[in-house]
Amino acid sequence: MHNWYKEWFDSPDYLRVYNHRDFLDAQKLSNLILSFTKIPKTAKILDAACGAGRHAIYLSLCGYNVFGFDLSRNLLLQAKKESFEKNANLKLIQADIREICFKKVFDMILNLFTSFGYFETDEENFSFIRKSYCFLKDNGYYVLDYFNKSFLEQNLLPYSEKLVENIKVIEKRKIENNRVVKEIILIKNNLVERFYESVKLYSIEKIIEEFERAKFRVLKIFGDYDGSDYNEKESPRLIIVFQK
Ligand SMILES: C[S@@+](CC[C@H](N)C(=O)[O-])C[C@H]1O[C@@H](n2cnc3c(N)ncnc32)[C@H](O)[C@@H]1O
Repeated sequence: MHNWYKEWFDSPDYLRVYNHRDFLDAQKLSNLILSFTKIPKTAKILDAACGAGRHAIYLSLCGYNVFGFDLSRNLLLQAKKESFEKNANLKLIQADIREICFKKVFDMILNLFTSFGYFETDEENFSFIRKSYCFLKDNGYYVLDYFNKSFLEQNLLPYSEKLVENIKVIEKRKIENNRVVKEIILIKNNLVERFYESVKLYSIEKIIEEFERAKFRVLKIFGDYDGSDYNEKESPRLIIVFQK
């Protein structure tokens, strides 16, 4: 399961299995972030681990100057294709979040839809956050959209199956060694393929502690994409807007 994120996100099946995480879903979260931060149209935004670019493309269509990076070549190709089709103008880079560096500074950095907690050590998981302080202008924002650990632990669905484009998708979930581990079994024409996800479970306290150690301050905490306030028991998401 080591390096699971390289295989799974680069597989063409990732976008099929997560087809409900679409452009509209991205638009909703992007609008929530924009209406809270009120950044000017001249702002430079970095989408860290942008995937197929759903937020980046929308923000670019809103008129922002958007940069996105991701490890997955296939997702970046998809982002390129879609931005071309939608006439969006954004810059995309293939890079590992643990290694990337920028000389330019941004007004806002986004890390959305649980693109965090994939690595074994805290050092690796928080390394981009520490570096990000230098990639932001004064008063710039960092928005993290991650799951709510408490809610996830209470509401974990151990098994589910669905049919997507004639592919039977079985998802098995468990909590093991303080990580949420998902096995994704894809059955198409009697051929079986297996992928894994393994994401470290960080509490809100630990996340805030690490961001504050990196000199960020908390501005706002949302609990879902509708903009409800975060509630430890009831919120599915943990969306924190930090400011430099
Ligand atoms: C759950 S997806 C979310 C993608 C995108 N933010 C969205 O909302 O659609 C997680 C993303 O993290 C990327 N990723 C995983 N490991 C990475 C790494 N080491 N460096 C950069 N990106 C990585 C994956 O390729 C994938 O696109």
